[in-house]
Amino acid sequence: MHNIMVTGGAGFIGSNFVIYLLNKYKEYNVLVYDKLTYAGNLDNLLEVSGDPRYHFVREDICDAGSVAQAIEKYKIDTIVNFAAETHVDRSILNPDAFIQTSVYGTYVLLEAARRFCLQRYHQISTDEVYGHIPAGYSSKEDDKVDPRSPYAASKASADLMVNAYHVTYDLPVTITRGSNNIGPFQYPEKVVPLFATNAIDGEPLPVYGDGRQMREYQYVVDHCDAIDLVLHSGTIGEIYNIGTGLEMENLQMVEILLQAIDCPRDLIRHVKDRPGHDRRYSLNIDKIKALGWQPRHTPAEAIAATGRWYADNEWWWRKIKHGAFQDYYETQYGERLRQSTASNIQSSSYE
Ligand code: NAD
Ligand code: DAU
Repeated sequence: MHNIMVTGGAGFIGSNFVIYLLNKYKEYNVLVYDKLTYAGNLDNLLEVSGDPRYHFVREDICDAGSVAQAIEKYKIDTIVNFAAETHVDRSILNPDAFIQTSVYGTYVLLEAARRFCLQRYHQISTDEVYGHIPAGYSSKEDDKVDPRSPYAASKASADLMVNAYHVTYDLPVTITRGSNNIGPFQYPEKVVPLFATNAIDGEPLPVYGDGRQMREYQYVVDHCDAIDLVLHSGTIGEIYNIGTGLEMENLQMVEILLQAIDCPRDLIRHVKDRPGHDRRYSLNIDKIKALGWQPRHTPAEAIAATGRWYADNEWWWRKIKHGAFQDYYETQYGERLRQSTASNIQSSSYE
């Protein structure tokens, strides 16, 4: 494994992973293959842009010719596929691009991996494929998939295709299913960066429904560390969950975030809930821990560190929150916020 193509490498987790790889492995070359959708951002990769081992190609994973050309030109031996449409709310507004990229695009990459006999195809998946998880249970890797949003269904479909290529063609694949990542360079449509940047500007924080949905927030670099471990020590054909084993309610996340960036809690607004909103995700992470990994950050540490990064890096997010973002924000939140209510939950309930 020397020449790694990171598809979706200009996005949030992909760019953190590229920086992680180039810092850790002096002998690796990394090709970022990315379409640069609204979520792709070369600012994320400034730290490595002058590194001779880093290359960038702006293309679509659905374009088989461009994928083949990139693999040949850069002598790729490994694909790590982060490329996807990733925001659940956008998948509810319009699922089309989600199906194109995660279903057809994953198929294109798998075909290329088969044709060029790559050493490894690694698929980045999500805990959302398991669907809502009742209290008292944590998802294991061999549990059935039960996706409930168009986004989750597109990701579960990709996982099934990856497994099919392993079983049918003996393609050397691995899959990791991560919980909610947070940290530097996350597009401010996702809840933690959206709330951090809104709070810094004194804007309301639109909490969906009662805010008691549970998520397992993990620091993105911990996730990168685990993906790297699976790439080097994981068993071919296997799936690995990556999380913290510690979930919390969204309202608790908001309290921790506001405290970290010293903003008032009266910004919290309860707005109309997300349709089909999964109440709880929870991962059993015994399998990845058995490989020798454990998270270095608790969810609370990750939330506080992320809040501080956004407070310190306005240069990165201010330009994103203009233009098309404003149109999206009005569509997604305009009416909701006009009909919103202030939070009546006392902060003491989370202390
Ligand atoms: P992101 O939205 O920040 O970035 C996605 C990247 O993929 C962007 O750079 C975009 O330009 C690129 N892309 C999209 N469609 C493409 C196409 N057709 N061809 C080439 N490039 C394309 O996403 P993220 O949050 O970094 O997530 C990365 C991966 O991790 C996704 O597969 C996602 O499902 C998975 N994941 C995310 C989380 C999370 O909390 N963010 C958790 C678990 C798994
Ligand atoms: O669980 C892993 C998944 O985490 C990834 O696969 C997805 O790509 C990623 O987007 C994320 O999905 P979520 O839907 O969990 O993340 P999001 O940040 O959109 O929402 C987190 C929680 O916060 C969820 O319960 C919905 C809630 N929320 C979200 C937004 C954007 C709000 O209450 N208000 C909001 O404005």
